[in-house]
Amino acid sequence: MDEKPSRSVFVLLTSHWLSMAGVALVTLAGFSWIFVLPASLGGHVENPYIGLLVFIAIPAVFFAGLVLIPIGIALGKRRVAQQLAALPDRRTALRRAGIFFAVMTAANVVIGSQLSYRAVEHMDTTQFCGQSCHVMKPEFTAHLMPPHQQVVCAACHIAPGTTGWLKGKMAGTRQLMEVIFNSFPRPIESALESNRLVSSTETCEQCHARQKYIGPRLRVTAKYQPDESNTRTETVLTMLVGGGALGGIHGAHMGPGVRIRYAAQDKKRQTIPWVEYRNTDTGAARTYLAGSGANPSLPVFEMQCVDCHNRAAHRFEDADRAIDQALADGQIAATLPFVKKTGLTLIQASYQNDAEAAQRIPEGLTGFYRQAYPDVAAKRTPEIQAAAAALLAIYQRNVFPDLKVTWGTYLNNLGHVDSPGCFRCHDGGHSTASGQTITQDCDTCHKAVAVEEPSPEVLKTLGITR
Ligand code: HEC
Ligand code: HEC
Ligand code: HEC
Ligand code: HEC
Ligand code: HEC
Repeated sequence: MDEKPSRSVFVLLTSHWLSMAGVALVTLAGFSWIFVLPASLGGHVENPYIGLLVFIAIPAVFFAGLVLIPIGIALGKRRVAQQLAALPDRRTALRRAGIFFAVMTAANVVIGSQLSYRAVEHMDTTQFCGQSCHVMKPEFTAHLMPPHQQVVCAACHIAPGTTGWLKGKMAGTRQLMEVIFNSFPRPIESALESNRLVSSTETCEQCHARQKYIGPRLRVTAKYQPDESNTRTETVLTMLVGGGALGGIHGAHMGPGVRIRYAAQDKKRQTIPWVEYRNTDTGAARTYLAGSGANPSLPVFEMQCVDCHNRAAHRFEDADRAIDQALADGQIAATLPFVKKTGLTLIQASYQNDAEAAQRIPEGLTGFYRQAYPDVAAKRTPEIQAAAAALLAIYQRNVFPDLKVTWGTYLNNLGHVDSPGCFRCHDGGHSTASGQTITQDCDTCHKAVAVEEPSPEVLKTLGITR
């Protein structure tokens, strides 16, 4: 009597090779999961591939198995009927089989929902997005820098809600295929280019209030010349950030009632022939045209935070500025002769891969001092080595030869010196029918208190000594 239900279950599960394969997969996935689970229970899986295995691969196998079982039973219907008919007490056997499948299904739903819940959770982590797949290495590396290192990738790249999530997963699947077939673009298009970004209301403005007034910000930057003594100068700007009804940079574009729309001619949105300004509070409305002017077929965008702060999360540096920063921080000793010029040449040179750069950048610097300044090379080895390490670190967080990401691949729109940035619109060339232009007046966005001065008086007055 007791062996009947197990026999009927056995009949059902073995009636077709597909259901047998299904049972094998479910069992395999179930056991594997139990074995790797302890490693992932702590919440943090340090190894991205274990995460991929535990949260994605195993659940995929598990569900595939679950689906195969009923398909197999359906396909093997005739054999099932024959074999069941041969059983002595068919009805009890079927009932027991029914109970068996009901219990197993309940158990599988519990395990399965656990698996899929964790898979969904895991897919929103920075580790999954940034580390599972090496094509994200540039952004993952740049994202480690403050202040947004705690803001997960999904916060900006996946819209909240089910539709946003589904869209994100569909795009993700397509990208996964591109990676598998090695057909993904190099460099990867920026997210503004492919319109894959969540609006700033749903991202930036969760943490930063649009209408907040931000007082003038003092911005001090040190520059080093490419001469023997790496001559240092400083530029002091007062950035008129403002905000809300008080105008300034933020208020002008994002203040109450303000709505700015623009049309872009290229995917990177660098050429902007049409800009519309509207203020529902004052009733003002102006349309500015430049170059080829309005063309109804161009895509139109509403201006938001990321039109200026496009590199808020993962910023790639300008080679020159990155070295200046390292010199100012003391990571590179500014007293090493020609270190700015030599360092810049070394990090801007092209290398086949990471390994070649890791060898040739340090060798290049030590070689330079051995040849040109033998006594410096002899006496200041630790400083030269530290400088070489700093140069290599700059290179490695900005250049990724295999992905064709190099200096200037991803522009920063916040400014106008390294790329057009603000001057995409504020170039004096965008004008209304009556000749009014979008201002390029040097004192509108910042007051230049000192420009490339060796020792700005204003810093002494303010007590800023560095
Ligand atoms: C605070 C918001 C924010 C966060 C967090 C963020 N990104 Fe982005 N990401 C952006 C914006 C904005 C762009 C578009 C930049 C542009 O078009 O110039 C972008 C672009 C990209 C691109 C296209 C290539 C490029 O660099 O332009 C990739 C890939 C990318 N992000 C991956 C990631 C990954 C991986 C993470 C997490 C490690 C992440 N992002 C976190 C806002 C964010
Ligand atoms: C989860 C919260 C969060 C989100 C989302 C977020 N930020 Fe921030 N942001 C912060 C914090 C925290 C700081 C650091 C504040 C500080 O250091 O005073 C910061 C700092 C900044 C700064 C100052 C940077 C600096 O170098 O001083 C800018 C600019 C900025 N955020 C812009 C943005 C933009 C643009 C977005 C959307 C693309 C965004 N943030 C999304 C939390 C967030
Ligand atoms: C028109 C371009 C533009 C837009 C649009 C814009 N910003 Fe800014 N923002 C700037 C500039 C320029 C600065 C000053 C940068 C500096 O100090 O060097 C700044 C500074 C900031 C800072 C740093 C303030 C500080 O304390 O130093 C934060 C935070 C910030 N913006 C957030 C935002 C958010 C959030 C939005 C969208 C609601 C936004 N910005 C929209 C241009 C813009
Ligand atoms: C997409 C076009 C566009 C870009 C890019 C842009 N702006 Fe503007 N900006 C405008 C428009 C349009 C106005 C309002 C003109 C008007 O009043 O008719 C404006 C006004 C301003 C004003 C107020 C000017 C005044 O006369 O009071 C400031 C300040 C400003 N922008 C700063 C910036 C800064 C800083 C950046 C770059 C970080 C920037 N803008 C980038 C379109 C742009
Ligand atoms: C539409 C706003 C706007 C206008 C107009 C403008 N600037 Fe700027 N300027 C900026 C912003 C934004 C930055 C970058 C601040 C940052 O990097 O955070 C900047 C940076 C600079 C810097 C510092 C560059 C560096 O290497 O650090 C100088 C110098 C400068 N501007 C000069 C000028 C001059 C000269 C004019 C007049 C032709 C001018 N600016 C007009 C917005 C503007």
